[in-house]
Amino acid sequence: MIVEPRLVEYLNSLETELPPHLAKLEAYALEHEVPIIRKEAQSLLRFFLELKQPKKILEVGTAIGFSASLLCEYMPADCHLTTIEKVPMRIVEAEKNLAALKRSQDVTFLTGDAEEVLKNLKEQGNQYDFVFMDAAKAQYMSFLTHILPMLPSGALLITDNVLQEGSIVESKYSITRRDRTIHMRMREYLYELKHNECLTTSIVAVGDGMALSVKR
Ligand SMILES: C[S@@+](CC[C@H](N)C(=O)[O-])C[C@H]1O[C@@H](n2cnc3c(N)ncnc32)[C@H](O)[C@@H]1O
Repeated sequence: MIVEPRLVEYLNSLETELPPHLAKLEAYALEHEVPIIRKEAQSLLRFFLELKQPKKILEVGTAIGFSASLLCEYMPADCHLTTIEKVPMRIVEAEKNLAALKRSQDVTFLTGDAEEVLKNLKEQGNQYDFVFMDAAKAQYMSFLTHILPMLPSGALLITDNVLQEGSIVESKYSITRRDRTIHMRMREYLYELKHNECLTTSIVAVGDGMALSVKR
């Protein structure tokens, strides 16, 4: 954990309870070790939904649909969510969970590798004013090349897990060989977010680290 566990516990204890269908989905994910957004990220997403009042949301990395269901619960009435997942087992679960939502008609679930799906969305001329990136970390850089042209000025791009439990600050030699590529690519991604002239980015040590970017 990058934030003192007692502090996290205290802050999470201040959170209000999730609606029953989200609480059930969260409990299922935790029990079955499906990686989903933490309480801190949930709170941040809700904050930015309220602030931004988006009309079109894009999520990369649905898993079983927990964060998609949360986005759908708190997004404005005239908003539409598109979410992408590629793993067959997760797709089956997500389809079921997203279909059960009250606002299931406001959700488009796209399946396949996000690299390909994002390329198609871009070529079709889609625009999104709120993007939540929560998929394969090593691919964020290439996802970004497709996402950037789809962001109008003022759009928000929120990226989860960017500090990798704090290991992002370590030298690549102290990172296990298995994780070295992700480590290197995440550093490249963060450098890009901070130096790309089209973006203003703040990286915050919340949850596992979140990058908050606004398209200029
Ligand atoms: C951390 S989980 C997403 C959790 C979800 N956002 C939530 O909080 O409920 C990341 C998901 O991204 C999916 N994923 C990874 N690489 C992907 C890719 N290239 N295309 C589509 N989905 C991908 C994984 O299968 C996994 O289910």
